[in-house]
Amino acid sequence: MVRIELVQPDVFSIDSAFDLAPLGLVRFPARTVVFRTGKGELIVHAPLGNAGELFEQLDELGPVAHLIAPNLFHHTYIGDWAERYPDATLHLAPGLADKRSDLPAGRTLSAGQPIDDDLSCFAICGMRKIAEHIFVHGPSRSLVVTDFVFNIREFSGLMTGLVLRMAGAHRRCAQSRLIRALVDDKAEAAASARAVIELAASLDRLIPAHGEIVDLTSAEQSAAFGTALTPMAAAGA
Ligand SMILES: [Fe+2]
Repeated sequence: MVRIELVQPDVFSIDSAFDLAPLGLVRFPARTVVFRTGKGELIVHAPLGNAGELFEQLDELGPVAHLIAPNLFHHTYIGDWAERYPDATLHLAPGLADKRSDLPAGRTLSAGQPIDDDLSCFAICGMRKIAEHIFVHGPSRSLVVTDFVFNIREFSGLMTGLVLRMAGAHRRCAQSRLIRALVDDKAEAAASARAVIELAASLDRLIPAHGEIVDLTSAEQSAAFGTALTPMAAAGA
């Protein structure tokens, strides 16, 4: 049973899991975030699978107007969603339209080009293989990231813990080594990491696609978030 949980007014979380290995041996918790706009329309960030009954629940919240594939990794199911919601505008990470020629035409995500009045978009630079874009939801003062930062505390799968330890992201707020390995321009990535730290300083929470929500108003959790980004931020100095 998939549940849609209210995180903040007009911000919903759909928690599921993503298998990175057969038989569920490596299974990351994964989140889709849904925002409801002032017009009552829905924006779906990083839509995941298992969507049959979910679609019915979602339809009760409002019409889906926007679907976001925020990076070059989280796009597996977006075609199913586009089929279910043909009137929704697709927002694709740069390069995804070439990678997924089966998808309908969409807009390319771009820094400074908001999805809606309440949802701003920022680019993570220097990592072209993932081309992640992150978002700030103004009304709830939330930062939404996909793979840029993990905060996985609970998980299933016999090998998941081992993989998270190897990635340096076991039960803590962290940037995985796998993500840092995707950096192709250290100076650009460092500038992005520093910009995100600065951005987060004025926000209340981080909503990651993998793991628990980080309370940025907590000195301890905010410091942990800053520490997570420090290696990347320092690498281009
Ligand atoms: Fe991911």
